[in-house]
Amino acid sequence: MSDFKERIASELLAVRSRSLTYTEAEDDLLVRQHSPLMSPLVWDLAHVGNYEELWVLREAGGLTPLRPEIDDIYDAFKTPRKDRPSLPILGPAEARRYIEGVRGRVLDVLDAVDFDDPAPLRRDGFVFGLVIQHEHQHDETMLATLQLSKEPGLVRDGRLPPARPGGPAEVYVPAGPFLMGTDTQPWAYDNERPAHRVDLPAYWIDRLPVGNGAYAAFIEDGGYHDPRWWTGEGWEWRQRQGVFAPLFWTKDGGAWHRTRFGRTEPVPMDEPVQHVSWYEADAYARWAGRRLPTEAEWEKACGWDAGAGRARKYPWGDHEPTLELANLGHRAARPAPLGAYPAGAGPYGTEQMIGDVWEWTGTWFDGYPGFRSFPYREYSEVFFGRDHRVLRGGSWAADPAAIRTTFRNWDHPIRRQIFTGFRCARDAEPA
Ligand SMILES: [Fe+2]
Repeated sequence: MSDFKERIASELLAVRSRSLTYTEAEDDLLVRQHSPLMSPLVWDLAHVGNYEELWVLREAGGLTPLRPEIDDIYDAFKTPRKDRPSLPILGPAEARRYIEGVRGRVLDVLDAVDFDDPAPLRRDGFVFGLVIQHEHQHDETMLATLQLSKEPGLVRDGRLPPARPGGPAEVYVPAGPFLMGTDTQPWAYDNERPAHRVDLPAYWIDRLPVGNGAYAAFIEDGGYHDPRWWTGEGWEWRQRQGVFAPLFWTKDGGAWHRTRFGRTEPVPMDEPVQHVSWYEADAYARWAGRRLPTEAEWEKACGWDAGAGRARKYPWGDHEPTLELANLGHRAARPAPLGAYPAGAGPYGTEQMIGDVWEWTGTWFDGYPGFRSFPYREYSEVFFGRDHRVLRGGSWAADPAAIRTTFRNWDHPIRRQIFTGFRCARDAEPA
């Protein structure tokens, strides 16, 4: 096997062991629906195998279906999340057997595939990148489900580098064009393509994500009670839902606490805020006299190397993330404290853009100029329009295999069970 094939095989192994770890629980916990927003964990588990069967075995490998009768159950478009518990889904033991059977055949296809094949699914191993990233994304979803379940003891925690206080609050990004998106990352999704020139005026952007301490000051200042800071829709949502703080926060004896994977602990004030909706992020920004960055501003600040005239794959360069660069891959089940990654700074001096928390941007999710859906419309295109806001940068739960400067995520502006935070920006004064 070539080195590249070996690397793909080891990525497949790594992501599968991750999925199996998150589903090492009593059957009852796996088949239960913990929130109408989420699938039962055992649905996610069989779904990643079914997706792998569909794309690697059938579409790229030309094999006949193993279990065509279950396709509809695991098609995310045919079965909304709320309906999934009532379907005849595979039980935990059967789901594990099914995905293992698929995986064995996937390795055979990998062994035989020619990466120079002009078919776009096979070229550069795209279809393997597709299923590896897809499974990591479901693993992150499973973590959000486990967080909602409030079950203790199921999610591993670990150590992170300490906070680094001080340093400038904002960094300056001069006016000028940059190349947004990519034509060269072989495993980039359709929505990251094509690369295109975007010319931006100068702006300031926060060096770090907004922290819990700053966010608590917004709460204490009555931010949730003042409609001036909220959009009309945001205010209506806040009132209807009775929201007064980030999801999973409670006030106990005058101090903020949070519940994290079934444990209640004081809110660490020097960590990026997490579990806020787009509406909350947007209201905070207005209260602070700022705004959310546009998606283009976020991407330029993250990776545009103006001197070299090219975008970096990550803020620090093109080499893979390490322990000193970013909080990715579920090293600990939380964001790292503010300032923990000076070596991971971007070309303009921003920090913690990759990892820690997904960051809301002010931009609706849409296709770039010249967008072409691939390999199917339901990956991105059906979500374009004014229903979803773009999120960038990945969280502590995102894997390095499924994150880069150009990676785009999206969700409804009301969503807060995902690992989301934000940073602020503002226009620069005209020179
Ligand atoms: Fe999926």
